[in-house]
Amino acid sequence: MTLSIESPASAGSEPVRLMVCTTCRAAGADADAPRPGAQLLAALGEALMADADARVRLVVEPVECLSVCKRPCTVSITAPGRWTYVYGDVDPAAHAGPLVAFAAQYQATADGLVPWRERPEFIRKGVVARIPPLVRAAP
Ligand code: FES
Repeated sequence: MTLSIESPASAGSEPVRLMVCTTCRAAGADADAPRPGAQLLAALGEALMADADARVRLVVEPVECLSVCKRPCTVSITAPGRWTYVYGDVDPAAHAGPLVAFAAQYQATADGLVPWRERPEFIRKGVVARIPPLVRAAP
């Protein structure tokens, strides 16, 4: 399942990709319990549909394992020419809306570097890795 939303305000810009691990299990959860990543995907879909004024061109994609398996939910955010970040401990029940807002902050930068104090607290605490831009943005 791939979710996407594009707002008129961001038409023509490169989309931000938000990847959500759908294979993590919550600690102590039953084998047949819903996976946190699936819950986050559903919450992101609801947040995107509810935010008619979203100022981000965002593509949300499920992925299998970001190698942060003990810190569900795990997500990664990236876009051409920008730093890529991996985050853990994202709460599907609380962080979908703030994650969409953070994606808009991220897209508004030239390099993906949102000033530390402007990042949501769960983003500041949950960072696992940051990776330099792999592909430069088109001139
Ligand atoms: S299974 Fe989700 S990060 Fe590995």
